[in-house]
Amino acid sequence: MKNNCAVVICAAGKGERAGFKKNKLLTPLYSQPVIYYTLSKFASFGEIIVTSSPQDMPELTAICSPFGAKVVLGGNTRQESVFSALKHVTKDIVLIHDGARPFVTDKIIDDCINDVLKYGSAITAIGATDTTILHTGEHYVGLDRSKVYSLQTPQAFYTKDILYAYKKAMSDGNTYTDDSSIYSAYCATPHLTLGDNQNIKLTYKEQFEPTYMPTMSMQSGMRIGFGVDIHTFGKEQNFITLAGVKIPSTTGLIAHSDGDVLVHAVMDALLSSIALKDIGTYFPDTDDKYLNIDSMHLLKEVVKMLLDKGYTPSNLVINVQAEQPKLKKYIDEMKKNLADVCSMSTNDIAISAGTAEGLGYVGQGLGICVYCIATVKEI
Ligand code: CTP
Ligand code: MG
Repeated sequence: MKNNCAVVICAAGKGERAGFKKNKLLTPLYSQPVIYYTLSKFASFGEIIVTSSPQDMPELTAICSPFGAKVVLGGNTRQESVFSALKHVTKDIVLIHDGARPFVTDKIIDDCINDVLKYGSAITAIGATDTTILHTGEHYVGLDRSKVYSLQTPQAFYTKDILYAYKKAMSDGNTYTDDSSIYSAYCATPHLTLGDNQNIKLTYKEQFEPTYMPTMSMQSGMRIGFGVDIHTFGKEQNFITLAGVKIPSTTGLIAHSDGDVLVHAVMDALLSSIALKDIGTYFPDTDDKYLNIDSMHLLKEVVKMLLDKGYTPSNLVINVQAEQPKLKKYIDEMKKNLADVCSMSTNDIAISAGTAEGLGYVGQGLGICVYCIATVKEI
């Protein structure tokens, strides 16, 4: 079902109240920026649209890329940002969510989708637990606590309804602080869906302290994977490709794909870390679709499979066994390419290379063998 839904993730704010001098969503929470964790909660959605300010475009685009998310320019207010994102939505149901709520649970997301199907809309809300009042300065009015709610996101709707409401609000020149108020002004009273106290909106600096944050969905379970790949020299070609870097060589590696033996070992290590099958199962070399394919695209797919299962790459340890070519001067670029595709820091990737001193198939220069150990952590 999620595959048939879109999510708009609002990330075009400035995060002024958090005072980091940059968008709070680009600030690290654990090892990754806040927006990364929010995105990972929606990784299996069919369409992910993220709003961005002009200055955050490059950084947000890089973080969003492994999730296949589209980054669009937001506006000066959240309302303008959501309106510009909604115009890109092609799915029938859309969830609108604040990037600043990375602790949203799978249950809330599932409940929102089911409630839209049942009631036409779903706004995440939690009931008041304290005594609630309306105080105007002069007047004091006690409120019926059982009818008072704090609203959270996601807020979910049929795309055609919320787009209609936004168009009306924009042409009437009215300003609203969230989607439910726009929906209720122009469509109908929205349906309340139960939220969670854990689903806080990160607003102030102290909320980024590990002691403050809810940890339930963020506790990291580490797992280890191992991958090996071998390719034979012999292709009439004057280069080989390792981690997406073209390296001059007297002969190329024979393969159905681009022969990126290093990336294949990394993919197998990542897949094995969560006990999935090997790359041949998911990307068979009998399928013409993968003929001469850039293996970095396949790695991106593997990272997405990992995210769908709730894991993200943590570190990679790679060893290349090759008699030739010499790899030393290409290693930094190889690490950079892997880091970009896996949304990792180059500090978490090690690549070493060695020869086999003339022994065996590697030593005789017949082929290249790559080993990779990967650790992944639970999101
Ligand atoms: N947002 C947006 N476009 C805007 C303003 C806000 O997409 N013009 C997004 C924010 O990035 C955030 C969400 O809407 O994920 C909720 O807004 P808020 O928590 O107020 O974030 P900021 O506006 O960034 O923070 P502040 O108000 O402290 O500057
Ligand atoms: Mg704001």
